[in-house]
Amino acid sequence: MAPESATPPRCTVTVNHKAQQFAGPPHTNALDFLRGLGLTSCKEGCAEGECGACAILLARTDGERSRWSAVNACLIPAAALEGQHVLTAEGLGTVSEPHPVQHQLAEHGGSQCGYCTPGFVCAMAAEFYRPERAEQQVAEAPGPHTGGPNGFDLHALSGNLCRCTGYRPIKDAAFELGMPEPEDHLTQVPATRPAPTDYWGADTPAGAVGRFRRPETLSQALQILSEEPDTKVIAGATDWGIEVNLKSARANSVLAIDRLAQLRRVVQNENYLELGAACTLSELERALAGRVPLLDLLWPNFASRLIRNSATLGGNLGTGSPIGDSPPVLLALDAQVVLVSVSGERVVPLENYFTGYRQSVRQPDELISAIRIPMPLAARVSFQKIAKRRFDDISSVAVALAFDVQAGRITRARIGVGGVAATPVRATATEQLLLGLEWNEQSMQQAGALLSTEGTPLDDHRASAAYRRAMLGSALERFFAEQETERRAGS
Ligand code: FES
Ligand code: FES
Repeated sequence: MAPESATPPRCTVTVNHKAQQFAGPPHTNALDFLRGLGLTSCKEGCAEGECGACAILLARTDGERSRWSAVNACLIPAAALEGQHVLTAEGLGTVSEPHPVQHQLAEHGGSQCGYCTPGFVCAMAAEFYRPERAEQQVAEAPGPHTGGPNGFDLHALSGNLCRCTGYRPIKDAAFELGMPEPEDHLTQVPATRPAPTDYWGADTPAGAVGRFRRPETLSQALQILSEEPDTKVIAGATDWGIEVNLKSARANSVLAIDRLAQLRRVVQNENYLELGAACTLSELERALAGRVPLLDLLWPNFASRLIRNSATLGGNLGTGSPIGDSPPVLLALDAQVVLVSVSGERVVPLENYFTGYRQSVRQPDELISAIRIPMPLAARVSFQKIAKRRFDDISSVAVALAFDVQAGRITRARIGVGGVAATPVRATATEQLLLGLEWNEQSMQQAGALLSTEGTPLDDHRASAAYRRAMLGSALERFFAEQETERRAGS
């Protein structure tokens, strides 16, 4: 709750290079705040992070440098922008002086009704300024289907939907972009001041009071939680933002931990790799740079780039969803969850972390501070996400596999599964059966029959229980086929 006698504070946000004040209710999202300033290029399409019509650019500190990150304004609380720099399509260019991205979209006919266009412009501009793009031109383009000759990775646009232009002209515009000119002032990304924030205001319509806090240190955050255990913890708000927008969820107290430096480290020693719970998925992807191949299979399948620029691993475990994308992968990696409170720290194997539908062993006064991945990693891995769309969709079933094979026999088998029970689960019976079996198709068929019986899948609007079982049953054969194809390609 907010202090009773105090005057509600205001947030100062730099929007399109100009200081702006936010003084609305704490549950206001960035999209409504920006539109309230008259910046109507930001559009609401879905209000749940799936269309990209609301995309904006945020200056983000990322390790030693700052970069422009494109994020969904519909999900970010406006109060979380305090002390930060935001750009909308209006701040990138004008009709008479368009930004290179706007110019190329116009040249290639990449806009018809225009509803999606400002969102595309912002997502494209983030990729235009991505510092690594210069190194990925032609020779090291990210891949035949997603990388352009100019190093532009089309995955940058995976969270943007267009319902009337068709994607070819948009892709052509993206691949035609050059590199930023040296005199382009946006190549210098301003430093941000992401903490601290303590904001509250009059709520509507009931007159309730909410409070949004982003403390400076972990100990301050833990103190707040110990005194107010019903505080809503957010670490990216990609889940909470949907609750607020679509279910009118409100909290008396919100604690944002996504910018806490102590939760944003990646540390490796000979025993484990420790991933800070508040690193965004995009930051982890860059920091790990291929060190964990199974995570590399996860990243492109985890929502969209816009979401991955905000979402965190800690948040994905914190929500406890049985169809979260990261738990199956982290289960296959034998990950452990580091929980902290004012009383100290404890480490829980992820397989013991989930206790029921959206429930876990995490106590109300605890935070997830990090996720530990033991070393060494398994050599053969696969992540199979079965969903209705290839990208940016919720899984019906997800299976992650991590195996070692020595002298033709399976010496390690870890199988993490999502979408077949009230929690993500490890398929331990199948793992046991696989140990010592020969690495061949017959073993995969034999174990696949058992795997199809693990879990308690349900019929729902995404898939039937029978379909989910069938997908489970074929996962091992698919894994074997992938591995053999790779082996043949490498020999
Ligand atoms: Fe659709 Fe924000 S309005 S992603
Ligand atoms: Fe109409 Fe994209 S131009 S939705």
